[in-house]
Amino acid sequence: MAFDIDAYQNTAGRVRDDDIDYAQFTHRPLSPDALRCLRYMSDIESHTVCYLRDLLVTPSHVDPAVTTFLTMWVFEEHWHGEVLAKVLAAHGISTGSAHISAVRRRLGWRDRMAPIGQALIANIVGEDFVAVHMTWGAINEWSAYAGYARLAELEQHPTLSELLTRIIRQEARHAAFYASQARDRLAASARARRLTRFALRRFWEPVGAGVALRSETAHMLRHLFSDTAGRRVIDQVDERVHRLPGLENLNLVRNASATY
Ligand SMILES: [Fe+2]
Ligand SMILES: [Fe+2]
Repeated sequence: MAFDIDAYQNTAGRVRDDDIDYAQFTHRPLSPDALRCLRYMSDIESHTVCYLRDLLVTPSHVDPAVTTFLTMWVFEEHWHGEVLAKVLAAHGISTGSAHISAVRRRLGWRDRMAPIGQALIANIVGEDFVAVHMTWGAINEWSAYAGYARLAELEQHPTLSELLTRIIRQEARHAAFYASQARDRLAASARARRLTRFALRRFWEPVGAGVALRSETAHMLRHLFSDTAGRRVIDQVDERVHRLPGLENLNLVRNASATY
């Protein structure tokens, strides 16, 4: 079924948390492993606007459906970061502007130059770059969905589960947009299929790996996905990827996770 972008833009919004009692975390705090994962997740969600910087210099900015989606998407992801930061703050963990700017500054000159390289490569590739972007987005949203679902399952904390369920609902809509775009664009172009397969195999990393410290990506993968149930979830994400045109038998998420 085609994604209804008008319906999405009319209903997108800040994830609701006005009825969430964050004091519950004082009575029943989360485990240190869960908090370390939440730190990772909050940092990555708050980084979305920086990912957007690198995407608007590509041919993706020409398509109005894509830019409408990205406008809403970056707003929703921003609030995911904020809400998760409130959970961290309820445990006395530092959050806010000073923390976020430290994460960004740590990335150094490579990050500052990134839009230049991305603009050059993506504009030489042309329209088929959008297929790579949309496929990448779908895989990252499926991964985010999987990560939040695993965290809720492992932690069994009613307040956290409620918050994560609301975030997951938004991630599912993000995934639906990216996947419908990816499916159409990959189906329409053999070159897009070749390019996307190549780019994913060569450059895809677990969500957040380019921003977080390697030790933190490794911890997140180990905590959420290293047992039998976690490995099954990773295989399910890969099965979704395999159903996209030209991406059969890629085992992308499983292979990339195994390198940590
Ligand atoms: Fe998110
Ligand atoms: Fe998302």
